[in-house]
Amino acid sequence: MPKNETLEHPAARAISDYSTVPTTFMTAESETDYDLSHGVGGTPLVRLRRLAEGPVEVHVKCEWMNPAGSVKDRPALWMIRDAEERGLLANGRRRLLDSTSGNTGIALAQLAAARGHQVTLTMPSNASPARIQLLRLLGAELILTDALEGSDGARTVARDMAAEQPDRYVFLDQYSNPMNWRAHYESTAPEIWRQTRGRITHFVAIMGTSGTFTGVSRRLKELNPTIRRITVQPDAAYHGIEGTKHYLSTEIPPIFDAGLVHEQIEVSTEEAQKMVRRLAVVEGLPTGISGGAAVVAALRVARQLSEGVIVTVLPDNVLKNLDRFQVEDPSI
Ligand SMILES: Cc1ncc(COP(=O)(O)O)c(C=O)c1O
Repeated sequence: MPKNETLEHPAARAISDYSTVPTTFMTAESETDYDLSHGVGGTPLVRLRRLAEGPVEVHVKCEWMNPAGSVKDRPALWMIRDAEERGLLANGRRRLLDSTSGNTGIALAQLAAARGHQVTLTMPSNASPARIQLLRLLGAELILTDALEGSDGARTVARDMAAEQPDRYVFLDQYSNPMNWRAHYESTAPEIWRQTRGRITHFVAIMGTSGTFTGVSRRLKELNPTIRRITVQPDAAYHGIEGTKHYLSTEIPPIFDAGLVHEQIEVSTEEAQKMVRRLAVVEGLPTGISGGAAVVAALRVARQLSEGVIVTVLPDNVLKNLDRFQVEDPSI
């Protein structure tokens, strides 16, 4: 029997029909009738061969390979489709509205433009200039909110706008929208299961809204409850790990399911930044800073094990924040 068949978890067969190309959501009538939505998901899982040598495998899911460049393409598509299917957009008379630190906004703006919808986004005014420019290019209406109030402040502004003008806005609210975690339950988790042939032993996820952690963990728990489910968050309230949340000092997102958590790991901004450089130079993976933090945590887990298959998610790439990294810096 081939080696990986002996390792395969029996339940892997239950979803073995997931093919190797991103076809999970293909509803196009012919192979030439694709739109942007059909490229969402099916991202590569890459093994870290140099940073994690030895019997413990560490794999990273490269979510920047999604069409709008991040893990947030998945929840954005699920939330938009849900609003469409429930007729909430009133034939174009209402706009999609959400608060975002950047990636959800880019995904919403891009997918909405491709599907003919209007978008309004609230976001902290300290978001990177490149993100703001890109959102404007994609036609989104931007409401910049108090930087000191962070993502919670942006969410409050969006909530108030939706309450004041219910006929104008469909408030998606990624922090409480079940389509956020469902996107990962229905797409990311089955992909990871298939790509590891059911061999995954540890799932490690950096958290913002917690959609990735909650959705993937919920599905993996059903497939094999012995898989360890580990959260990662910044180690301080004021941090530079864009897209993530320090749960001790901020509002806990309603979709977060603390009952799924086996272990929590905290990572500093500096550790995450160093790992971004190492992943780029040593593995050829130009991950963004939250992916750096996720890998710091995954390698910490690996060091405690003698065998195992660890999977983590790299939410986006570093291109939107390149100005923060001194490429000539030799300190890797
Ligand atoms: C760069 C980045 N990293 C991590 C996350 C966290 O993902 P989630 O919201 O699924 O917890 C996000 C979410 O927006 C993000 O943009």
